[in-house]
Amino acid sequence: MPTLTQIQEPIRCELERYDEFLVRNFRSESRYASAVMEYIFNTRGKQLRPLIVLLSAALNGSISERSYEAAMFVEMIHTASLVHDDVVDEADLRRGHPAVHTLWGSHTAVLMGDYLFAKSYSLCMERGATDIVSLVTRAIGLVCEGELDQTEQAERLEMTRQIYFDIIYKKTASLICAAATAGALSAGASDTAMAQMKLYGDNLGIAFQIKDDILDYTPNAKTGKRSCNDLRERKITLPLLHVLEHASETERKTLLDRLRNIHNEPRNVDVLYDAVLAGGGLEEADRTMRTYCEQARRALDIFPESPARKALLDLCDYIAERDR
Ligand code: IPE
Ligand code: IPE
Ligand code: MG
Ligand code: MG
Ligand code: MG
Repeated sequence: MPTLTQIQEPIRCELERYDEFLVRNFRSESRYASAVMEYIFNTRGKQLRPLIVLLSAALNGSISERSYEAAMFVEMIHTASLVHDDVVDEADLRRGHPAVHTLWGSHTAVLMGDYLFAKSYSLCMERGATDIVSLVTRAIGLVCEGELDQTEQAERLEMTRQIYFDIIYKKTASLICAAATAGALSAGASDTAMAQMKLYGDNLGIAFQIKDDILDYTPNAKTGKRSCNDLRERKITLPLLHVLEHASETERKTLLDRLRNIHNEPRNVDVLYDAVLAGGGLEEADRTMRTYCEQARRALDIFPESPARKALLDLCDYIAERDR
C-alpha cells in the first residue's frame, strides 16, 4: 500500500505553503474560540481533502492561490462537519482524542462548527473565489441532506441498497467530489477534465465511506474512533445490509428487533456484530468498495502520465487498504 507521505511527495512544498496559509488565516479575537480552534488544529486528521484539491489542481495545470482557498474551504467544512457529526452520533472520541463536545459540551461544538463554516466562507468571498464557494456550498447542502436522511433511517429501519448509496453519496462523496472538482476548477480545467474529476471524486467518495463503515466494524483499526458506533446509533451500513438481504424473513425480523432495542439492550451490539461477521458482510462490503476504487482509477485514464496522476491513483489504493 502506498503511504500518505509517498502520495503527498509530488506537492510536498505546496502542502507546507498550505499549512502556513491556514495558520495565517485562522486567528480569532475571542480567547474561547481560539482555545477550541487550537485544539482542533492540534488534532488534525489525515487531511485527505486538501490533498485531493491540490493534486487535482496540479493534474489539471498548476496549483494557484485559488487552489489554496479551495483546499482550505473544503477542509474546514469537513472539520466543521465532524465537530457536528460527533454531537449527532453521540461519539465521544475523534482522532484518538476527546471530541470537541466531550470537552466543551454540545453548545460549544455546534457554535464552533458554524464558526468554522462562516470563517472559511467569508475568507473565500473576500478573495473573490465565488466559483469555488458555489461548488462547495452545493456539497454542504447535500451533506446535510444525507445526514437528515440517515437520521430518518435510524428511526424507520427500512434501509435498502438504493437508500444506503444515496445517503453515502450525499453525506461523504459529495464533499470529496467537491475537493476533486474545486482543485481542477482552480487550475482552469476544461469541461471534459472537470467531468472526469467529478467521476473520480464521486467514486472515490463512495469507496471512502464504505471503507469507513467497514472500519467501524473493525475494533483493532487505528481510526481513533470507538468501534461499532454505527450499530449503537442504529445505522444500517453496507456490511449489515448485506446480511439482512440474505437472511430469512424470521432472521431478518429478529436482527431488526435487536437493532431497534439497542439503546435498552447494549448486548445486542455483540449479537449484531457477530451476525455481520458470520454472514460475510465485511467481505462483501470490501468487494463492493473495491469496484468503486477501480472506477475512480479509470476516470483518470484520459490524463497523460504525471506525478500528480500517479498520486491520485495511489490514493485509491490507500483508501482501499487504510486502517485509519
Ligand atoms: C471521516 O473522514 C468522516 C467521513 C466522511 C467518513 P476522515 O477519515 O477523512 O477523517 P479525518 O479528517 O482523517 O479524521
Ligand atoms: C460521515 O459519517 C460523517 C460526515 C458526513 C460528517 P460518519 O458518522 O460515519 O463519520 P465518522 O465515522 O464519525 O467519522
Ligand atoms: Mg455520522
Ligand atoms: Mg460519526
Ligand atoms: Mg463512520
